[in-house]
Amino acid sequence: MQMDITPNAWPRNAISHAAKLIADADGIILTAGAGIGVDSGLPDFRGNDGFWKAYPALAKVGISFTSIASPRSFQRTPRLAWGFYGHRLALYRSIEPHKGFEVLRNWGSKMRMGTWIYTSNVDGHFQKSGFSGATINECHGSIHHLQCLEGCTPEVWSADYFTPEVDSGTCQLLNDLPTCPHCGSLARPNIVMFGDNGWLSQRSLPQRANQAAWLEHARATKARLVVIEVGAGSVIASVRDFGRRMREEMGAHMVRINPREFTVEGRGDVGIPARSLSGINTVNAILMRQ
Ligand SMILES: NC(=O)c1ccc[n+]([C@@H]2O[C@H](COP(=O)([O-])OP(=O)(O)OC[C@H]3O[C@@H](n4cnc5c(N)ncnc54)[C@H](O)[C@@H]3O)[C@@H](O)[C@H]2O)c1
Ligand SMILES: [Zn+2]
Repeated sequence: MQMDITPNAWPRNAISHAAKLIADADGIILTAGAGIGVDSGLPDFRGNDGFWKAYPALAKVGISFTSIASPRSFQRTPRLAWGFYGHRLALYRSIEPHKGFEVLRNWGSKMRMGTWIYTSNVDGHFQKSGFSGATINECHGSIHHLQCLEGCTPEVWSADYFTPEVDSGTCQLLNDLPTCPHCGSLARPNIVMFGDNGWLSQRSLPQRANQAAWLEHARATKARLVVIEVGAGSVIASVRDFGRRMREEMGAHMVRINPREFTVEGRGDVGIPARSLSGINTVNAILMRQ
């Protein structure tokens, strides 16, 4: 269950501490997991319960997130695998990111280093809310891009031409399966899945190079950085691990916004037990007063 903490009950010093870390920073490292999209109306996949609530057709047949999100499911049950990913693709296309994304963008736009984004989200909602794709590392890839399931080519191409039609009662793709333009095999999303040796890194390599250059510039100019982590879970820890690394390597303090898993480890870091939109807005109200 979502913890329902009203802004008035949040530790006041946590909010002002967060506002001070942001006000004093030269740049933001914005790290985010599925929780940042919950206030836009997207599901997170916390545990089997959360996943099956979002995909009741998969609950009926007892298929877990780790099982459907795998290259094997594309090989064995392509219509079911594309039913799941096609439904998500359509959902991420149709839903608009909430206003908190814009507030975050404004914070960074006033800083010398701006904002660097590191996210495991595959939904493209940072780009959709106006952040430049040149400042994002999508560490698990993107659902808006496709690749050959057989890996016949290193090419990764846009999914824009593909409009999935999905029967949500059975989680089956109803229209034609997308195929590789080179060999005609099945196409799959360019997303890192479980048990996945075939994910192609063509989009990821320039993102990682841009990230390294941004961090190098921050280091060379002694920029004070703040990590703002929103809605990142601890089970699949890629986003949390990156934030921890930024703390150690860049000396950045962290503001963690999460209604459940808000505890922070480092001295000088701050955890805000809040949902993303209200957490961001409450910190913003303090920043606006300064
Ligand atoms: N939108 C997406 O692209 C999307 C959505 C679901 C899952 N995924 C994929 O599944 C994996 C899930 O890992 P994860 O850690 O991102 O998600 P997760 O579902 O494991 O954890 C979500 C986190 O968000 C927090 N949360 C829940 N509601 C929130 C809210 N309103 N505001 C702020 N935080 C909230 C939860 O407490 C939890 O810590 C990743 O690999 C990711 O690629 C992506
Ligand atoms: Zn191919």
